[in-house]
Amino acid sequence: MEMYFKNCPFLTDKSQCCSLWDLCSAFLWLKTNWVHKIFINNEWHESTSGKKFPTYNPSTLQKICDIEEGDKPDVDNAVEAAKAAFQRGSPWRQMDAPSRGRLLHKLADLLERDRVILATLETMDTGKPFLQAYFIDLEGCIKTLRYYAGWADKIQGRTIPVDENFVCFTRHEPMGVCGAITPWNFPLLMLVWKMAPALCCGNTLVVKPAEQTPLTSLYIGSLIKEVGFPPGVVNIVPGYGPTAGAAISTHDSIDKIAFTGSTKVGKLIKEAASKSNLKRVTLELGGKNPCIVCADADLDLAVECAHQGVFFNQGQCCTAASRVFVEEQIYPEFVKRSVEFAKKRLVGDPFDARTEQGPQIDQRQFDKILELIESGKKEGAKLECGGLAIEDRGLFIKPTVFSEVTDNMRIAKEEIFGPVQPIMKFKSIEEVIRRANSTEYGLTAAVFTKNLDRALTLASALQSGTVWINCYNALYAQAPFGGFKMSGNGRELGEYALAEYTEVKTVTIKLSQKSP
Ligand code: NAI
Ligand code: MG
Repeated sequence: MEMYFKNCPFLTDKSQCCSLWDLCSAFLWLKTNWVHKIFINNEWHESTSGKKFPTYNPSTLQKICDIEEGDKPDVDNAVEAAKAAFQRGSPWRQMDAPSRGRLLHKLADLLERDRVILATLETMDTGKPFLQAYFIDLEGCIKTLRYYAGWADKIQGRTIPVDENFVCFTRHEPMGVCGAITPWNFPLLMLVWKMAPALCCGNTLVVKPAEQTPLTSLYIGSLIKEVGFPPGVVNIVPGYGPTAGAAISTHDSIDKIAFTGSTKVGKLIKEAASKSNLKRVTLELGGKNPCIVCADADLDLAVECAHQGVFFNQGQCCTAASRVFVEEQIYPEFVKRSVEFAKKRLVGDPFDARTEQGPQIDQRQFDKILELIESGKKEGAKLECGGLAIEDRGLFIKPTVFSEVTDNMRIAKEEIFGPVQPIMKFKSIEEVIRRANSTEYGLTAAVFTKNLDRALTLASALQSGTVWINCYNALYAQAPFGGFKMSGNGRELGEYALAEYTEVKTVTIKLSQKSP
């Protein structure tokens, strides 16, 4: 069969390629199945209001399809379903823990089976390069599902020594109905980061995907049903933030909410939680992540990691290396090599295997990035390359490098979420620690040095949830991820995430007879 996927140098195995047939299957799903509807109780529903909203392909600016637009009444229906599925005695509550793990493994199997379709849908809906969707996003989803599948029957409490004639132990119980509100930069991966630990702990879920990118989350609905999760365990309500999203964050019957997105909306969600039922909240928010390159670093490695660290996913990453601090001795050379990398970066059709960078997600983000680029020029940073949109194409922006950036400039302070690399200079370690930490954010940091003492000093001094040394974006399902300061609350991934989806119950028993 003719390969749709162009210029793919290393995909020799046809099963790994995106053929015309795979693309057709994806379209077929959109047209003939139910992935544009609301998923409640393992069934597909139209919106109560009768409204629909469009989702676009940002690389062509064409509408892919209309989606049923969920709002408060639909969220209410989804919550009712999730509550019923969580009732004592329900099939889900009666299911033993290994069987929950087995369902998660089966879901991972289906993601492996439908990996090309899911990666195709993700690329169409987000504009991210297909190879990235296939090898990074889907890989992360599958590994996360399998990791938490393994945890399902290992979530256990402790026995605690108390008074002699008492027995005291803890139970780690599911919280109940969990809300998940996800962003558009990694739509499927961010859903799985929430869904896998929530289900492994025995909760039920109401999900609202980002309005720009609902397709893969809805496809997951069809897989949830195929795997055999009982009805109501996972419910997916596509819609907008201030309507469907707010209906989740203010809902009195939702016990916990997990959110990834902007710091602004993270604050709204916490406020809504405190004004409603004090539901538990975990937040993964923005970042203005320092990437510190010491003079003794392996320069080839540091330049490439800093480049990938900021430009990966069109720069639309909360982990983006968007403040690069370079020690003054190597500053000119670092800038020169970074510019060479940026100029070589291939921007274009996400279905072309050579493409490293696709379009930005939508007009609003595109405008925000160009406005920040203009602010950099006006505030006196030196534009080394890029700095413009690619004229004849919709939402594509040239990879942009600024040197001579100072800490007071907006490009050094605000989350750009685009393909823009601001490079600063530093003289001493104490100085760079102070400057790196002087931000409201604290998500990730990276350090490039061969000096162990420096690396560990920086690892302990930097105020961030993750510190990478001589690497970037090294994320693992088994390692916790989350932010200090305004980058968020709580942790996703790893064993730490289990605590975010369980309540601890203390059971204390008085024995009727004292020991002799
Ligand atoms: P956003 O925070 O508005 O969107 C994320 C999710 O929140 C979407 O599902 C959206 O529908 C939902 N949402 C919006 N308003 C809501 C509300 N009032 N109540 C409940 N849910 C609500 O982010 P947006 O506007 O798309 O992007 C703005 C900026 O946020 C970006 O430029 C970037 O700086 C940051 N961002 C950070 C992300 C991350 O990975 N931490 C992901 C997406 C955006
Ligand atoms: Mg879209």
